Amino acid sequence: MSIEALSGKVFLVVTGASRGIGRQIAITFGSLLEKGSHMLLLARDLNALCEVTESISPIVNVDAVRMDLSKATKTDLEEAILKTLKGTTREAFDRVVLVHNVGSLNQKLLNELTDLNDWRAYYDLNFFVPAVLNAVVMNLFDSKTNTKKVIINITSLYGIQAFIGSGYYCTAKAAREMYFKVFALENPDVDVLSYSPGPVDTDMLTFLCENIIDPENKEKFREMRKNKTILSPEQSINRLVEVLKAHKYKSAEHVDYYTPL
Ligand SMILES: NC(=O)c1ccc[n+]([C@@H]2O[C@H](COP(=O)([O-])OP(=O)(O)OC[C@H]3O[C@@H](n4cnc5c(N)ncnc54)[C@H](OP(=O)(O)O)[C@@H]3O)[C@@H](O)[C@H]2O)c1
Repeated sequence: MSIEALSGKVFLVVTGASRGIGRQIAITFGSLLEKGSHMLLLARDLNALCEVTESISPIVNVDAVRMDLSKATKTDLEEAILKTLKGTTREAFDRVVLVHNVGSLNQKLLNELTDLNDWRAYYDLNFFVPAVLNAVVMNLFDSKTNTKKVIINITSLYGIQAFIGSGYYCTAKAAREMYFKVFALENPDVDVLSYSPGPVDTDMLTFLCENIIDPENKEKFREMRKNKTILSPEQSINRLVEVLKAHKYKSAEHVDYYTPL
């Protein structure tokens, strides 16, 4: 299958690639990449990352790097990328694809959120470090390298709709979407997509179903489980591939799993 956004010799970075949606992005995208492409997979669980690596074709060079993305600095991110290049020059890649998948979720009412350090820790992982990583990649693969750039921001319905108990999550997802809208205006040559994967059967969804505060929403998830309308990671990422292939979106537009192509 030819998909412009993943074609040529690609340098692919996926954050939160050890489990759930990020793991599936690494496996599905890895199966579509051309020989000589490189992948950098980031998360804290190195064993799980190594298992993901083993599912990827040997024609692609894969680096699994253990990194706590709530604490990563500009230097940590730059070093991981330069190490993954393994002597290959940046100019050798036709395209850099950066998937901002990492995310975390908790359930608390806003009036309980009075600790500034908790707010900072949440935003470090879910907004600030992704913003720094984005700039690091753009600066390493600047216009001198002539590399095409694709950014995929994994967003959520919660980024455009308010839900009780999800103050951290909704605000950070909305901030991340707006970051990429500004970024797309400033970088019209970059292909940016905010993909909302739908309700996907992962650890995050299990946590939400078990801890959700809003009784109405709890019932909705119970119904989804009963009716088997929760998606598998594979279903959702196959749809992402279709979205990329059809390429009907405007840069930085929010496209949901259920958005008609
Ligand atoms: N599941 C859904 O229904 C759903 C719906 C809409 C949007 N999303 C979005 O999809 C993305 C992936 O969600 P998911 O459901 O796959 O979540 P998940 O199952 O909880 O997986 C989260 C991933 O992020 C990594 N991660 C978490 N904290 C990290 C940290 N401090 N440093 C580095 N990596 C870290 C985890 O790896 P380690 O633990 O190994 O670090 C894991 O690979 C998120 O942005 C989420 O908001 C999910």
